Amino acid sequence: MTDSAVVASPAAHVAELIDGKAMAATIRGELRATVQTMLVNGTRPGLAVALIGEDPASAVYVGGKIKACKEIGIQSIEARLPATTTTAEVLALIDTWNADDSVDGILVQLPLPRGLDTQAIVARISPEKDVDGFGADNLGRLAQGKPRLVACTPWGVMEMLKRWGQPHGWTPAGKRAVVIGRSITVGRPMALLLLGADATVTICHSRTADLESAVRQAELVVAAAGQRHLVKGEWIQEGTVVIDVGIHRGEDGKLTGDVDFAPASQRARAITPVPGGVGPMTIAMLMANTVSACRQRRGLGV
Ligand code: GUN
Repeated sequence: MTDSAVVASPAAHVAELIDGKAMAATIRGELRATVQTMLVNGTRPGLAVALIGEDPASAVYVGGKIKACKEIGIQSIEARLPATTTTAEVLALIDTWNADDSVDGILVQLPLPRGLDTQAIVARISPEKDVDGFGADNLGRLAQGKPRLVACTPWGVMEMLKRWGQPHGWTPAGKRAVVIGRSITVGRPMALLLLGADATVTICHSRTADLESAVRQAELVVAAAGQRHLVKGEWIQEGTVVIDVGIHRGEDGKLTGDVDFAPASQRARAITPVPGGVGPMTIAMLMANTVSACRQRRGLGV
């Protein structure tokens, strides 16, 4: 037997980790069960994905989406097109998928290669099949407080807050929430969702004069700025819930987020890791949107 020394350690608080990887696996399991029932009744949801150009990160993301489709039982249709593809060619592909009854969801992986008209391409996707929720119809519905297909990343964040928060007696209602980033893909729909959940929402962005003081007042921080370690650990107040949407590969090859994780986790009540936080939830919610688009379009109820 060895002597075990009692090591005096500082009573450092360490935040609870919100395990997006595990939550996403649970959600995929739930969806798989739903799809199995749909298959028995002769309905197979279908997702069409376009990957245009050679961006390696996009190829990895699309690979993850296709893999999740296979696991759940969703039919996936993949179009890999060269960076030289024209906007007209992409629009024609979307028209084909819009008219194809076996396609329930359409996703064009972003960012698109230079020269392609992202706005026109996103706008061409039929609102019923817009499983990214980026189109004017779905964003407008969300702004009206009547969401239909909601952007996958912010919806994944809401689902994490719900699944972590419920057993802890925590909800966004009445909380001071700070969303960092104003993109169509994350920041704006995130702010609308939190508003719908009765949070008091502040949106910060690249022109915000004093990000630090906004974060210092926050009880919930959602960082989606796309800037590595923008949010300093000492800005986080004790008791704050921190959701990190950022993903960056450092020079050492390791993935990190928009939040300086180590010091932030000494102060936050709960925090999402990178990787293994928001990322897997985005894919799970894409699967959920595809199943939901299928049910809505085919009149199966939601
Ligand atoms: N690129 C990064 N995230 C996303 C996403 O959620 N959807 C699409 N289409 N492209 C992305």
